[in-house]
Amino acid sequence: MLWCQIREYQNADYSAVRMIYSTGFREHVGTVYLLALKQTWIQAMLCGFCLLTYILSGSILTCMLCVGGVLLATRMAVQYIFVQGIQLGLREDLLDIRNSYMQPGSRSCFWVAELKGSIVGTVGILPCVEEPGAWELKRISVKKEFRGRGIAKALCETALEFVARHNVKRVVLFTSMVQTDAHKLYDSIGFEKEEEFVWPSLPARLINFMVFKYVHRNGNVMSC
Ligand SMILES: CC(C)(COP(=O)(O)OP(=O)(O)OC[C@H]1O[C@@H](n2cnc3c(N)ncnc32)[C@H](O)[C@@H]1OP(=O)(O)O)[C@@H](O)C(=O)NCCC(=O)NCCS
Repeated sequence: MLWCQIREYQNADYSAVRMIYSTGFREHVGTVYLLALKQTWIQAMLCGFCLLTYILSGSILTCMLCVGGVLLATRMAVQYIFVQGIQLGLREDLLDIRNSYMQPGSRSCFWVAELKGSIVGTVGILPCVEEPGAWELKRISVKKEFRGRGIAKALCETALEFVARHNVKRVVLFTSMVQTDAHKLYDSIGFEKEEEFVWPSLPARLINFMVFKYVHRNGNVMSC
């Protein structure tokens, strides 16, 4: 038996849900920064910049300080892009969670995992805008200190049972190349990677940031 309760979203969960989403999203900043530093063009620019500052200043210390500054600026740029991404989510479906997911009779729902009165995990499901006929699993996140105990799996399976009751055959979700823990979760509950593409924005193209589309063909839903 699961040691925490999976239940439908209530208005009182609003701040906790938004906080869990923001924190879970933000924790990938470091990985994306490393991805940026692995790009050949960024490494070439850093070397060029290093050489140029050395030629101009004649000082290795100045050269190191300038390169340090560039690295810091790159990190701040990645962080800024993440904050924009988080704000976007908070302004979309998570701005009015009840309206987005919990309308009576609507084909969408949002669940939380509750432990001793605290919200420790979230997931939502709703018809997919990009692919009519399919539903999309969204906002899967579990507080760091409660991970590895099957909470995300239980949340996702609750969502998959819900769509099975609505006779939905295809559930999709979008994740990124850096969310590797999530990929293991999706593999373990029967999702398969169907597509991968570079996220269509300039910063994403510059660092070759890939997004994966996973699909679950409903019908073999496991019990929680
Ligand atoms: C992805 C995330 C939701 C997983 O939550 P969780 O509660 O730790 O996952 P679970 O304990 O339910 O694990 C489910 C399955 O995934 C596997 N898994 C999850 N995290 C793993 C890890 N770090 N290493 C190895 N396997 C892992 C588990 O082994 C388990 O498979 P099993 O039942 O076959 O053993 C959590 O890491 C998270 O919130 N990440 C930040 C937010 C995020 O990236 N969300 C995804 C948005 S697309």
